[in-house]
Amino acid sequence: MDRRCNIGIFDSGIGGVSVLKKIIKLLPNENIMYFGDTKNVPYGGRTKEEIQNLSRRIVEFLILNNCKAIVIACNTATIATLEMLKTQCSIPVVGIIDAGVEAVSSNGYDEISVLGTPFTIESGEHLKKIKKKNKKMKINTVACEELCPMIEEGWEKFGKRYEVLGEYMSHIPKSSEALLLACTHYPFIIEDIQKRFEGKVIDPSEECARELFRVLKKEDILNNDKNKGRIEFYVTGDKESFKVKAEKFLGTEIKDIYKVNI
Ligand code: DGL
Repeated sequence: MDRRCNIGIFDSGIGGVSVLKKIIKLLPNENIMYFGDTKNVPYGGRTKEEIQNLSRRIVEFLILNNCKAIVIACNTATIATLEMLKTQCSIPVVGIIDAGVEAVSSNGYDEISVLGTPFTIESGEHLKKIKKKNKKMKINTVACEELCPMIEEGWEKFGKRYEVLGEYMSHIPKSSEALLLACTHYPFIIEDIQKRFEGKVIDPSEECARELFRVLKKEDILNNDKNKGRIEFYVTGDKESFKVKAEKFLGTEIKDIYKVNI
């Protein structure tokens, strides 16, 4: 495998850009293809089979376009597809669930809360994995059906956004010491979340980037080029609205963005 091949990162939409930002920071010389399935977002209300079918097509596209590793920058898709993709792909696949589990388990908290999509919360995946590491930890979970679609469409557009967020946050007990953002869309509104929570808000994307680094190093496929890597964006929906949101979040201009039909 050529070390200069791409890292393929995918999400249902804009959310995975929060993971992309951390990956660019840690691995600035890697070439990256970001795929946002904006025509089919949100994934969080879909069945496991639907999410698997959508993800399989994205990963086929990424592999056909010279990817040396895949990052599932979506909690929902990680839960639905990580095991399947690991057995079907001949290149490494990294998900984001273990990064979140690691981030909350290593700090000695007695009680935490987890925010995620309905699919993520109903799967009980975080609960199972955190309990394995710390049987005694109290874990509260809140399914936030409306947050991902609102962030995807543009958070500021919604006059009722603080009401909606406040309703979800009202289910988090005061005794929670940390709050895990188990949806990659939520870091886009981390300041609004932090204003409504006294403890530590945890975004697992940095830990996910570190996991990718460890995997690339172990497989001996880190890009040793001294130059800055090329970042390309592929979306299945509207290019312009994606570009505006991604540029604002990344703080840089996006030049290579393409609309694809897969
Ligand atoms: N960013 C995805 C996640 O982390 C959102 C899923 C959705 O499309 O509902 O779960």
